[in-house]
This record gives sequence, C-alpha cells and structure tokens, in this order.
Amino acid sequence: MKALIIIDGQMVEIDQGTTLLQAAKKAGIFIPTLCYHEALKPYGSCRLCMVEVVQNKQRRLVTSCNFPAERGMEVYTDTEKVRGIRRMIVELLLARCPDVPLLKTMARQMGIEAPRFKKIEANECILCGLCVRFCEEVVGVGAIGLSNRGINREVATPFKVASDVCIGCGSCTYICPTGCIEMTPDEKTPRLRTMKMGNRSLEPCPNNYECDSCPTEQDFLKNMKRVIGEFRSRYGT
Ligand code: SF4
Ligand code: SF4
Ligand code: FES
Repeated sequence: MKALIIIDGQMVEIDQGTTLLQAAKKAGIFIPTLCYHEALKPYGSCRLCMVEVVQNKQRRLVTSCNFPAERGMEVYTDTEKVRGIRRMIVELLLARCPDVPLLKTMARQMGIEAPRFKKIEANECILCGLCVRFCEEVVGVGAIGLSNRGINREVATPFKVASDVCIGCGSCTYICPTGCIEMTPDEKTPRLRTMKMGNRSLEPCPNNYECDSCPTEQDFLKNMKRVIGEFRSRYGT
C-alpha cells in the first residue's frame, strides 16, 4: 500500500512500512549511518541515523534505519537536536577509535575539531556489528559475536579461541568499515588484532573441489539464495 510522508518539507510517496532511511534515500536526502548495510537486517545500534518524527502531534527521535514510515508522518533529518546527537556519537566513537579514517572524515564533515571526551583506548572497532551479522546472516556460519558490555564490548569468537566453524571466506574483512579485521593470504583466516578467528585450513580443498557435493558450499549457496530473496522482498526489487 502506498502512502505519503513529508521529509524535510518534501512530499514523498512510499510503500507503507518502508523505513525512514529508505524513504529519505528516495527523496535524495542523505542520512549518515554506521551499522546499516542494505544486505543485512536493520540493527539500530549506532544511532547515527537518528531523525525527528512528528506523528499524532507528538515529536520524538527515532533511528531511521529501522523505523517504519507511516502515512502522514513528518520527518526532519537535519534539526539542531539531530545534529547534536550525531556529533556526540561521533565524538564518543572518536574517543574509542581516534585513528579510524572514516570517523575522522565524519568528524570533519560535522565540524568537530577535537572530541570533548577523554580517549578510552586505542582501538579500531566501532562495534557496528556488520562483521558479526554478515557472518551470521549471509555466510550462515556465525563464527563471531559481540561479547561483554560497556567499554569492554568487543567482537570475538566464543571463548576467544580460533573458531572451528569459520570458513575463512573473508567476508568480515571485506565488510568492516574500519579495516580492523585483517586477512593475509598466508594465514587464510581473518585476524582481529591479535585474535585469530578461524582454525580451518582451506588448502587443499577437503572435498577435492567437488562443489556440487560439498556441504559447506551448498549451505553457503542456500543461504545466499535466502538472503537475496529477503533483500528483494525488503526493497521490492
Ligand atoms: S571469515 Fe570466518 S568469521 Fe569472517 S565472515 Fe567468513 S566465516 Fe565469518
Ligand atoms: S570489527 Fe569492524 S565490522 Fe566488526 S564490529 Fe568492529 S568495526 Fe564493525
Ligand atoms: S544506522 Fe541506524 S542505528 Fe546505526
């Protein structure tokens, strides 16, 4: 069902249930994101994509990547409040990860010269969870997860030992926006700082390159089909 909403004064026709982020994109309005990726289910953790919404005469802040647009909604993507929250998020992340180029660029674009918050530790993981969700939702393996709370939160394998289920596909390396997961051709397993993620040696292929009868390959293909199907139904493509 189609519906009309207003974003930054612009009338936009959307499918009911489309997220505000997608609706803004349709209207050509840019909203910054960190934990969002089109191939994955919205996660809503970084809160960088906050916007203000007016509905039933009530004004509130919501995360646009997972908030469904509804008929008659008014959305404001660039208010003082929204800009203030985004700046604070970037400053907090910079305190945790001061050397990440992506954050430095965002800070520059937002006019942040020096973060107000004290540096916590030199780290490059912004805890967006993209690697964890890609490994789980797309690769279908779930070799890594986010563990601990607060400043100790981190990406790790269970018990921090190299995982037996990691297939060394390198997807986590590819999707990580800060480059903190590395994979060298020699090791054939991703590495997050000092932690080796996988345990398997993929050479030579244990199934003699018989992909049609390889359970790992078949699981991966099945998962990809499911993900592509979900992606298509989410975006109507
Ligand atoms: S390399 Fe291992 S941890 Fe990374 S996405 Fe692939 S299976 Fe998951
Ligand atoms: S390792 Fe990279 S992708 Fe994974 S949570 Fe940290 S920043 Fe995000
Ligand atoms: S992009 Fe929406 S909460 Fe991270």
